[in-house]
Amino acid sequence: MNPIEQVIIKGKTDITPVWFMRQAGRYLPEFRDIRLKNQDFIKLCLNVDLVPEITLQPLERFEIDAAIIFSDILMIPYAVGQPVRFQKDFGPILGSLEKIENSGLTEQKFINKLDPVYKAISKTSIKLKNKKKSLIGFVGAPWTILVYMINKQSPKKELSKMLSDEKVKDNLLKIILNYTKIHIREQVKHGADIIQIFDSWAGLASNSDIKKYIYESTTELVEFTKSLGVPVICFPREIENYKEYVNEVKPSAVNIDYKVNIRGILKEISIPIQGGLDPKLLLGDKNTVKNESTKILDTFKDHPYIFNLGHGVLPQTDPNMLEYLVNLVKDY
Ligand code: CP3
Repeated sequence: MNPIEQVIIKGKTDITPVWFMRQAGRYLPEFRDIRLKNQDFIKLCLNVDLVPEITLQPLERFEIDAAIIFSDILMIPYAVGQPVRFQKDFGPILGSLEKIENSGLTEQKFINKLDPVYKAISKTSIKLKNKKKSLIGFVGAPWTILVYMINKQSPKKELSKMLSDEKVKDNLLKIILNYTKIHIREQVKHGADIIQIFDSWAGLASNSDIKKYIYESTTELVEFTKSLGVPVICFPREIENYKEYVNEVKPSAVNIDYKVNIRGILKEISIPIQGGLDPKLLLGDKNTVKNESTKILDTFKDHPYIFNLGHGVLPQTDPNMLEYLVNLVKDY
């Protein structure tokens, strides 16, 4: 059993594994080199040689306990037929939903489209054999994918009225749930040993949306993943009530965002916890990083805990700061 499995499955508290969301990405010069030569981001995510290479880049540098497959949550909209592109300094831009309905999509067509992702997972998994590291696969939560598919770009604080058409939402939700399950199953089949569900826009759901679009739909994915014998970590970023979320959705572990009060959450939640440190702190001085991460480690010292951030590593982060942080956690 690797350290992350020990924490999640056995509830062990005497080890603190560590990995980072967005640990493979633009803050690494070796990633930027590859990215410069591969302008089309979706194509890069479908490159069977480069995906394992990028996935393993952070493990070459730091003593971290997991690799997370280099991919994107928007591979689902892409694979069901909605055009997706990434514009520099803007983010993702999604196209018309019409193509989805006329595409005659089948399970086999979907799998064929994402086949390079699965081949890349197999390749990475082989390279990690005997290394006592987890290989994390992931998906976007149905709500967050719905937001992207309808809003067609990252939402700004408030969601536009476009999200008010219930019929469109329900139809899409069915498609999203169906294909997200297939994507989870295929990632596990090819060697992912944990699944993380990213609900980046959970904090934008209104009270009337939370039950159906967050609790019910995420629970379906959690139950499905557990039925494959694999632990599932949920990250409902900036959701108001983590306690209620955990009670409703029942993930194997929960990732908290950096606005969460860590002493409060410790009293409210008994399942394993991951994350919490504000990624912006890594842009500052070492002393603050040391103080804040020690506070977190002290707080969770008797609770099953996986060290991580409260959101992804920022592109401006100095890799030396991450190295400093990893060593700090390992020496604690
Ligand atoms: O964590 C990892 O290292 C694995 C790879 C990973 C990426 N995206 C690669 C990526 C993961 C786990 C994701 C998840 C993801 N993608 C989320 C959920 C997590 C979160 O940040 O809230 C979301 C919302 C997306 C959608 C997305 N992809 C956006 C909004 C953007 C553009 C803005 C940004 O943060 O870069 C992307 C592009 C993207 N995905 C990049 C990477 C490395 C940057 C691509 C580039 O320009 O080089």
